[in-house]
Amino acid sequence: MSRLTVWDAATGNETLRTEDPAAIAATLAAIHVRFERWPVADLPDGATAEQVLAAYKPRLDAFLAETAAGTADVIQLTPDHPMKDALRQKFLSEHTHTEDEVRFFHAGHGNFVLHVGGKVYDAHCTQGDLISVPANTTHWFDSGDRPDFTVLRVFTDTSGWTPHYTGSDMAARFPAKTDPVVA
Ligand SMILES: [Fe+2]
Repeated sequence: MSRLTVWDAATGNETLRTEDPAAIAATLAAIHVRFERWPVADLPDGATAEQVLAAYKPRLDAFLAETAAGTADVIQLTPDHPMKDALRQKFLSEHTHTEDEVRFFHAGHGNFVLHVGGKVYDAHCTQGDLISVPANTTHWFDSGDRPDFTVLRVFTDTSGWTPHYTGSDMAARFPAKTDPVVA
């Protein structure tokens, strides 16, 4: 289930935890992060990237038209991927991008953690979640010890999502609440 946890960055005190998609969307909208629930396409396990793209084409085309983004693709990561730890590590330190980072979870899960305005917002995204992190927003992404997701990515420019690391240790100080959730 989708979940948003918010902490005060200075004290580490938890200020909000919710699994209500409307509350998640409203809280993230206040920091200009877009969060939506999309109906999940009925596809078999192991569907190809082409099948996933085709299944979401109407919504995707509307999203691309609305945001003036150029293209979309599909990326999949499984717990048995030989590079899973390196891939997890690449986005696990606080960073920014020069364009919006847009992800839709067709399957699986991952945590986008945003560091904005003295707060840390940990958005645990699951199947059916769309999240758009604005350009230049400090954040990190944690796919967990056992990365398992099939996501759509939307790009304006494929070089735009190169991570620019801030050098902050925030990600180490606020580990994402990946599954299983530790209360
Ligand atoms: Fe990122």
